[in-house]
Amino acid sequence: MSDERIFSLRNRWFAGSVGAILVIALVAAFIGLVWLPKAHERNVMQSMWEAICSAVGAPAPFRAAGLPAEQQKYPSSVIVNAHMMEVGEASVGRGATLAMACTMCHGARGTSPAGTPHLAGQPASATYKQLRDFLSGHRPSAIMQPLVAELDDQDMRDLSAYYASLERERIADIAPSASGTPRLVRNGDPMRSVGACSSCHSPHAVRPATPVLEGLSEAYLSDQMLAFRDGRRANDINGQMRNAVRNLNDAEIAELARYYAGR
Ligand code: HEC
Ligand code: HEC
Repeated sequence: MSDERIFSLRNRWFAGSVGAILVIALVAAFIGLVWLPKAHERNVMQSMWEAICSAVGAPAPFRAAGLPAEQQKYPSSVIVNAHMMEVGEASVGRGATLAMACTMCHGARGTSPAGTPHLAGQPASATYKQLRDFLSGHRPSAIMQPLVAELDDQDMRDLSAYYASLERERIADIAPSASGTPRLVRNGDPMRSVGACSSCHSPHAVRPATPVLEGLSEAYLSDQMLAFRDGRRANDINGQMRNAVRNLNDAEIAELARYYAGR
């Protein structure tokens, strides 16, 4: 045995191995904690600290530019349940008056010829939730946000009751799709964890705060699906819509938009 000690930094083999392990650990930490999370396309990180938090699995806050920290934790400040919209008789009348401010874009009686979403026939809970989300900033919209800033909670309930009481006029700009109901609408795609659209959106499903899609404009429908998929819209509670469209490709989104627009 030589008197040279193995575990000593003076042993150049030992020092070399320690150095190599440190370098490997640093490179791995950089790749795993910083580079991969940052490169993840649909999860845009704002800072290196966020990238590190995300990589170690710390829950990410809901993010929308300009939202106060408290609100970033939730996709919406509205509590959705079956009894959220108990509205009185007078509501519809008051809503009709308030709706004068909306006709310019949403149509004289809530059916819009311009590609703006129809409000007529939309469940009151769905309209109310969207108005509240515009107000809180959970659903960003440069157009709607300043308009709802003028409304109080009762105004929003009245407007929603009014629009729910109207029947949607049919604007036949698209022929009903000849190929029948798309498979995704009827069955979804369990292998890709896509839920059947009709399980939530069918007029018979009567789920609170779930909009009716029939007859909305094709451009609006596809834009909203893309917004949920690409992270521009994230006000759906429990990620219901983000999960439904996360794995859809552009062609499928176009087909679904066309199908619902033509009904
Ligand atoms: C200057 C045009 C304009 C006016 C006026 C306007 N809106 Fe809108 N509204 C829009 C646009 C555009 C959108 C779609 C927003 C988007 O693309 O994110 C929208 C979306 C909405 C939605 C969401 C619909 C859905 O299907 O999710 C509701 C609810 C709504 N508006 C209600 C109202 C009410 C109530 C008023 C009147 C107080 C009003 N809007 C006035 C342009 C307008
Ligand atoms: C688990 C229930 C659920 C499923 C499945 C589902 N959705 Fe939705 N969808 C919702 C809810 C709830 C909203 C309203 C989100 C919010 O609160 O803003 C919504 C909103 C939408 C909107 C925006 C409508 C508007 O007026 O702004 C579109 C478009 C849409 N869904 C299309 C689809 C399509 C197409 C499918 C099938 C691939 C689907 N959804 C599957 C629950 C669902």
